[in-house]
Amino acid sequence: MQKKTIETNIEIYSFEELDNAKQTLINKAKEQVSKAYAPYSGFHVGAAIELENGEIFAASNQENSAYPSGLCAERIAMFFANAQYPDVAVKTLAIAAYTNGEFIADPVTPCGSCRQVLLETETRFEKDITILLYGTKNIFQLENVKQLLPLCFEKSSLKG
Ligand code: THU
Repeated sequence: MQKKTIETNIEIYSFEELDNAKQTLINKAKEQVSKAYAPYSGFHVGAAIELENGEIFAASNQENSAYPSGLCAERIAMFFANAQYPDVAVKTLAIAAYTNGEFIADPVTPCGSCRQVLLETETRFEKDITILLYGTKNIFQLENVKQLLPLCFEKSSLKG
């Protein structure tokens, strides 16, 4: 028997330590939580994406009385960005979440389905997407989506 260990590298920052572009993106994600439609969970998520061409797209989660029909903020933002600019890679994604009257303290982390969708964009453009996960205590930065989804299934997996 052999063992393999997979590490995830997370850089931890305060808001003030981040550069202007990253602060702006986090602020856009935070602004978006007020536009969430989350009457069922009360969990308001905002996601903001900066493309390589400087365009910024932001979105919030949209719930539905038929629960699985709703969609997370990250996927709405990513699908919309890719739909508008199918030839432009994504540079950075920032996520924030607000519940019970405040932004969550520990950095918000995307669900498994969102990780898979984010990975598709990263591999599609062969360009790492910097991930910023906002919390009031601190901010996690990951160098790419792969850090969030080790042992992933991707297009190269289809070759067998
Ligand atoms: N949600 C997101 O929008 N993004 C995440 O990263 C986690 C979960 C949404 C889905 C649902 O509307 C609510 O948060 C509770 O799961």
